[in-house]
Amino acid sequence: MAFFKILAIALSIAASAVAQTGTGALNNSLSLTPAMGWSSWNQFGDSINETLIKETIDTMEKNGLKEAGFTYVNLDDGWQRYKGNRKDHPGPIEADPVKFPNGIKSLADYAHSKGFKLGIYNGPGENTCAGYTGSKGYEAEDAKTWASWGIDHLKYDSCCSHKDAPDSEVQAVHRKMSESLIATGRPIVFHACHCGWADIWEWAAADGANQWRIGQDISDDFNYPGNREKYYFDVLDMLDRGANLTKYSGPGHWNDYDMLIVGLEGKSGQLVGTGASDIEYRTHFSMWSMVNSPLLIGADVRTLSRASLETLMNQEIIALNQDPLGLPAVVVWEADDKSAQIYGKELQDKSYGVAMLNRGSSTREMSISPRRDLTIPWDEYRVRDLWRHKDRGPYDVPFGVEVMAHEARVFRLSNVEDAA
Ligand code: GAL
Repeated sequence: MAFFKILAIALSIAASAVAQTGTGALNNSLSLTPAMGWSSWNQFGDSINETLIKETIDTMEKNGLKEAGFTYVNLDDGWQRYKGNRKDHPGPIEADPVKFPNGIKSLADYAHSKGFKLGIYNGPGENTCAGYTGSKGYEAEDAKTWASWGIDHLKYDSCCSHKDAPDSEVQAVHRKMSESLIATGRPIVFHACHCGWADIWEWAAADGANQWRIGQDISDDFNYPGNREKYYFDVLDMLDRGANLTKYSGPGHWNDYDMLIVGLEGKSGQLVGTGASDIEYRTHFSMWSMVNSPLLIGADVRTLSRASLETLMNQEIIALNQDPLGLPAVVVWEADDKSAQIYGKELQDKSYGVAMLNRGSSTREMSISPRRDLTIPWDEYRVRDLWRHKDRGPYDVPFGVEVMAHEARVFRLSNVEDAA
């Protein structure tokens, strides 16, 4: 039996264990595929306002992003009225009346009227990472407020307030908000954000989280060794970080590799990084799709280049991310020096998604063999090239291509017998 099938069975056993324990496992039944949309942080930091969000919604409606599946529009930090300690601002949480003169409910109504969902951000401390009032002591009240506004997604961020807290405390504060959201009765996707610390992947799903960050903030770089071990992770760092965590990710509970950098082009007002090439952004999007990370665009959608839009709207790549089987890709082969890797995953229709990733600095030949690399006994198979949108084969020998430096060639392989 293929490795992927064993993984699928293990995941489904784990999922039913969550549903059956009765010992307090929480499950909101949301996000059966990774969330797709936009989030304000990577480009704008806390410089957000109602006009920007409405223009973002209008643009995504018109330029095809909504149709491609990007429907969450998420406010990150900086929508709140007050900076400082929540104890000094004890009333119901409020939006900044200058940035959001009509309030968040009216913005949510606007988003919903155009077929989008609205997300919001806060954290479990006295204040958030950008210094705005947090939810400490007001968890149930804040959850009710957000539900009454029509909020659909919450990023609950403990990175700063609980950086040095014991793991059990981090778990407890996230669980408290998860319970509070479920108690509102409104379906609100719950992102438990703790920058990849406290082994969050080990407990967050059972505490009702639909996604959790596996690392610190992404930088706008594909591969910048100078950033390693500092606060920011580049694309390759994030992929390596996730390589051993795939078993924790599945329908309803996803490893989150952080918001996308496609299209930032070194112009972020918030993130460090010098930008990446169109090929590198394409590789980043392909790999986030392969590993089933949430796909939250981080750039200003109003000024995206044609190349970035084409990257983000490749439906054949998005289908890998949104496949209902929900198996994240694993590394099935890598060069001894790790300069090239092949990622693979089984899909619901029994085909396989394959990404040949060239991490090195020159073009190289790479090949895939279903028997050798995926341990599936196909005699003949077809290959669909998901970036060139072409069918190849059938083949009964390994399939090889040239892969440019920092490129990922992505394919869908299917058994000729299954198609017959
Ligand atoms: C960080 C988080 C970022 C952003 C920021 C807001 O902790 O990793 O993604 O949400 O807080 O202050």
